[in-house]
Amino acid sequence: MTPPDHPVRELTGLPAPAKLNLFLHITGRRADGYHLLQSVFMLVDWQDTIDLVLREDGQLSREDSGTRLALPDNDLCVRAADALRQATGCTLGAHIRLHKQIPAEAGMGGGSSDAATCLIGLNRLWHLGLARAELARIGLALGADVPFFIGGHNAWVEGVGEQLTPVHLPRRRFVVVKPPTGASTPKIFASPALKRDTKTATMQGFAADENAEAMLDMEKLFAHTRNDLQPVAQGLCPDIERCILWLFSQGLQGRMTGSGSAVFAPLPDAFDALAPLPEGWVARICSSLDAHPLTDWISG
Ligand code: C5P
Repeated sequence: MTPPDHPVRELTGLPAPAKLNLFLHITGRRADGYHLLQSVFMLVDWQDTIDLVLREDGQLSREDSGTRLALPDNDLCVRAADALRQATGCTLGAHIRLHKQIPAEAGMGGGSSDAATCLIGLNRLWHLGLARAELARIGLALGADVPFFIGGHNAWVEGVGEQLTPVHLPRRRFVVVKPPTGASTPKIFASPALKRDTKTATMQGFAADENAEAMLDMEKLFAHTRNDLQPVAQGLCPDIERCILWLFSQGLQGRMTGSGSAVFAPLPDAFDALAPLPEGWVARICSSLDAHPLTDWISG
């Protein structure tokens, strides 16, 4: 995109989409305690939006449109902005306004996506010109899921979340259900009951043909995979199993995304209406995205 003639002072309505993990296998643990995983991450159209307003006084501030309360310094958006300044020596500031839609503690990557959108947007607002790989490196220090959102495409993900291979996924609708309760991600990963030795697979093993770029076959994927975090998460948060059973009662096969507690199920084309939800649950019918809406904002 051509730079504007006059300095841009704010960028508004920047999207931060959520993700679903179509499966999540834990294949090992690194010496630093982080887990090696294999997963397919898929972008969906349930999204937060972010406004970035230039502050020339060098301050970073953040507001949530829902609460309008000042948030703590360890907020992931502020940390992303700070990490970007440290990496580049930039002395400009920003006011970050977050319009939160994605449920927290859902395993949908909401916080990581917000951080990624802040990195992408501030890279532009502050005229830093960092390429994708550099933004992803900064993002990884903020959270294992951040590089995926910087990457911009649905991906086969390995390592601790930083090794990304773009994959084509069939467009699909999903129902996503989030109970009011959740379980702590570090607690799930730290559980002695967690299965950490799932055999490593190759991406080609799931693809519709031998071409690595081929479209993954969703039904085949579900039949041969699982979320290794789910049994431990269900033990800590019984609502997760209730969500799975609620979906099952409507003929849908549910699976947890990430470390939960949201659960999702692919929808058959003919599916029209969901049963009434128990008190306190939220549910939404989402569609997969082919790419992050801001992917063209970064080079590389
Ligand atoms: O990186 P992120 O903040 O998303 O991770 C939250 C916690 O989940 C980490 O502190 C770590 O305990 C655990 N984790 C892990 N292996 C990963 C990702 C996360 O052990 N690949």
